[in-house]
Amino acid sequence: MPILFTDMKIVKTIQEMQALSEDLRKEKRIGFVPTMGYLHKGHLSLVKKARELGDIVVVSIFVNPIQFGPTEDLSKYPRDFQKDATLLEEEKTDIIFSPDSKEVYPEGYSTYIQVKELENYLCGQSRTGHFTGVATVVAKLFHIVKPHFAVFGQKDYQQLRIIEKMVKDLNMDIEIVPYPTVREKDGLAMSSRNTYLNPAEREKALLIYASIKKVEELFKKGQRKASTLRDEAMKVLRSKDGVDIEYVSICNPDTLIEVDQVKNKALLAIACRVGKTRLIDNIILMEA
Ligand code: PAJ
Repeated sequence: MPILFTDMKIVKTIQEMQALSEDLRKEKRIGFVPTMGYLHKGHLSLVKKARELGDIVVVSIFVNPIQFGPTEDLSKYPRDFQKDATLLEEEKTDIIFSPDSKEVYPEGYSTYIQVKELENYLCGQSRTGHFTGVATVVAKLFHIVKPHFAVFGQKDYQQLRIIEKMVKDLNMDIEIVPYPTVREKDGLAMSSRNTYLNPAEREKALLIYASIKKVEELFKKGQRKASTLRDEAMKVLRSKDGVDIEYVSICNPDTLIEVDQVKNKALLAIACRVGKTRLIDNIILMEA
């Protein structure tokens, strides 16, 4: 039985969303949080931020097929629309936009947005085409929802940078609001994919945060050599079997190009596989 929401609207079609936004944006500031659903406290913090900054909060729930590679988890990506809708109503969301994939990508769809350079580093190296899929869907959602601002999590740092660059390069009149990573009590960055972890893997996944803390500690003590900081992170990640490192990068937070020496600030970004689950995390190292 579908639950009825009294104050929140659920919009399924592009035409209805565009007409609604066109009308609302004349007098109200529209804040937007794009998601793929299966919401956790990280997503909900972005919604709270949008609620605080805007008059109208729109959240999209759309598992975007074109950002998944052929061997990735599109079909088994977790979904629970009713639960998401209940959580979003509790956060006083005004509109959920949840389109059908056939309407977003009708037959013959052929336009893609590629943010060059930034997509070559970090996750872009193993996830070919992923960021083109992300930039394309976000650009489409921006045209449909017509927000004044949109909130993105720093958890997906490269995604955030790519969206900022797309908005700048294409002169989109939308403010991008970054939001810090929300973590579980034990430090694991919240992610819809954490549900794939069995208890033993969940335990091993903690090494990611432990390695971040270790690097942070060394940085605070004055270590600035990127190779030393990276090696120390790897040591922690390798301290138990079962964490496959994809990359540990210390790079310029704007360009994502690796640095030899940290000057002022740098991004420490990590991607690992724990069992079959790919997890990412990052932190900005910054001079006090
Ligand atoms: P999704 O993974 O559902 O994430 C939606 C938003 O929530 C992103 O901005 C992401 O960075 C943010 N987020 C996820 N976990 C977080 C955490 N622990 N703390 C803070 N923010 C967190 O990212 C996507 O969906 C998609 O790529 C999307 C942008 C919707 C395009 O399809």
